[in-house]
Amino acid sequence: MFSPLATLKALSWRRRPFLLNHKINIACDCRCQFCNSWQLKEEPEELLSRPEIETLLDRARAAGMISYSVWGGEPLLREDTPAVLAHARRLGFFTTVSTNASRLQERADEFIPHTSIFAVSLDGIGETHDRVRGFPGLFDRAVAGIERLRANRARVRIIYNVNLKTAADVTAAAQLARWLRVSILYMPAIPLAGYNEAVLLDDETRRRAFDEVLRLQAEGYPVLNLRSYARVIRDGTSIACHFPKYHIYVDFDGALYTCDLGPRSKLAQWGDCRQVDLAALFDRPEFRAKTRELERCNACRMSCGEIGSGSPLWQFPVRAWTRVRHELLFQK
Ligand SMILES: C[S@@+](CC[C@H](N)C(=O)[O-])C[C@H]1O[C@@H](n2cnc3c(N)ncnc32)[C@H](O)[C@@H]1O
Ligand code: SF4
Ligand code: SF4
Repeated sequence: MFSPLATLKALSWRRRPFLLNHKINIACDCRCQFCNSWQLKEEPEELLSRPEIETLLDRARAAGMISYSVWGGEPLLREDTPAVLAHARRLGFFTTVSTNASRLQERADEFIPHTSIFAVSLDGIGETHDRVRGFPGLFDRAVAGIERLRANRARVRIIYNVNLKTAADVTAAAQLARWLRVSILYMPAIPLAGYNEAVLLDDETRRRAFDEVLRLQAEGYPVLNLRSYARVIRDGTSIACHFPKYHIYVDFDGALYTCDLGPRSKLAQWGDCRQVDLAALFDRPEFRAKTRELERCNACRMSCGEIGSGSPLWQFPVRAWTRVRHELLFQK
């Protein structure tokens, strides 16, 4: 169950990571032009088993973590993902499922009871989305899946990847989000060396796209981006990134790491989650030193970096207000 006390403790001055992002599945049925997951066929297909993930969750909870997100690959292509999420919910985690929605409509009922919020990828309208994701008919599946979730009062956020192929549909996507009664978060495609150079935003397209994101938000569209951080993305400004202080990734094979910018390009690696005591890791001087060093990283402009930019003193109230406005009030 959700525990306000545990949440307050997790956000306290100790600043241990409290967000656990897990690549629960490597397999994927899309061929997205900006992503490399589907191109990593040389990687061994060794996934953490369900009992191993449950042990990881037990340890993460004991270390004070409060949020568990599954992604990949495609989490809905793994049969036991709902059972894993059920375990996380029993421990009191806030759970997020990132999905390309290819199987969302058919599996929605299995996931809804164990998922706090669905992050559904949608990167353009109609054929634009299908083309950029290499999956004919995916747009229709995503819309049908979201409608199914909303019919069951599940909370949904669209994650919109802004890249050269999708920048033109930014406005139409906000209109669609409003019509579907869900919120939308715009993320710029980040460079994955050797994989997605052809679709990365040039400065001018990025500036125009995020100017439009800011305008849409000012007009009352359900845009979730934090305004100050949308300006950072638009202007390409440098920031002090505190994200590594708040989160940790677990790779599909159990490797713990801080951030990655493509295959074998992990910014910091911390061993195998089956052998690491998370609470002890977070308190290790070299872990803390690395997170301080990464303040100057500036290698990505992902909107999840919002949580780590600026001072928590004003940032949490602002984000809380944005959430209440768009995710609780709007998604009745
Ligand atoms: C890696 S996917 C995994 C979950 C699921 N397969 C999906 O597509 O939603 C998670 C999110 O990362 C985003 N993503 C993938 N490659 C990216 C990149 N190079 N830059 C920014 N976002 C990216 C996707 O658009 C998606 O919203
Ligand atoms: S973004 Fe998601 S759906 Fe697309 S290839 Fe990557 S993992 Fe698969
Ligand atoms: S800038 Fe991006 S890649 Fe670098 S530490 Fe921050 S979140 Fe990670």
